[in-house]
Amino acid sequence: VDLISIRDLTKEDVEAYFKKTAEMEKNLASGKKPVSNIVVANLFFEPSTRTSLSFQTAAKRLGADSVVYNASTGSTQKGETLKDTIRIIDGYADLIVIRHPLEGSARLAADVAVHPVINAGDGGNQHPTQTLIDLYTILKCKGKIDGLAVQLVGDLKHARAMRSLLYGLAMFGADVTLVAPKGLEMEKSVIDEVRERFGAKVSERSSLDLKSCDVLYVCRVQKERFSDPYEAEKVQKEFSLHEEDLKDVKKDLIILHPLPKIDEIPESVDRSPHAKYFEQAKYGVPVRMAILYSIIKEAQK
Ligand code: NCD
Repeated sequence: VDLISIRDLTKEDVEAYFKKTAEMEKNLASGKKPVSNIVVANLFFEPSTRTSLSFQTAAKRLGADSVVYNASTGSTQKGETLKDTIRIIDGYADLIVIRHPLEGSARLAADVAVHPVINAGDGGNQHPTQTLIDLYTILKCKGKIDGLAVQLVGDLKHARAMRSLLYGLAMFGADVTLVAPKGLEMEKSVIDEVRERFGAKVSERSSLDLKSCDVLYVCRVQKERFSDPYEAEKVQKEFSLHEEDLKDVKKDLIILHPLPKIDEIPESVDRSPHAKYFEQAKYGVPVRMAILYSIIKEAQK
């Protein structure tokens, strides 16, 4: 019952999450709390605002409690291993949410822990819960995912949110165009995988072409994954959206971003009716309520 990679989910699983999320939106409105006597542990070994706080909010809104381990103030600083930290927290809580800079760390945590583990981002690898939020947002804004022209723009080499999302979009039949600065392209094996598995239409470009785009999904340059931060800053400056880029776009184009955004989207775009990234961030709570609820119930079986 762990959620480590978007590959752990079938299309039916994802659709069940959508259904559960809609229910959770109703619970949010009515204040109904379907869970009791559950403690969710949130372990963060990397910075986080949305993921950490929306998981905590989701737990509270469900009627569960949450505790937070912050690696920058915890015994990780004394040299405790990830395995030991997991073993200890597994003895306190019913479910573990983990974000860690090492790829594969969430899988390791799941191997060590008796309780379910949810991957909230493992290095440049996977961020499955973000993808569920992204797909849900597209569905809410567009009514469908199948056949939409989606452009993923930014540091596709290092952004785990983009890797997971490409898989999710391919699963639901979107036509994906990847737009990355030179050297920051999506890993080829990831593209090959979705083509083989889903027969997905995936193309690559080196510059934006928004004329027929339905969903523009932008992410920041993942500076923390560069060995030379100067290189990252340089690419970031060269690669950002401008208001002019939005002149000839479809009226109902939506712009999404996992956030935080740095310089890749100018503040003026926030006011445009295309910008949906703040709405997207808000769906973090009901989507993560649905994930926590489903995994808690599954574990109780
Ligand atoms: C993303 C992440 O941590 O991968 N943030 C998030 O969870 N919303 C995207 C990013 O940091 O660029």
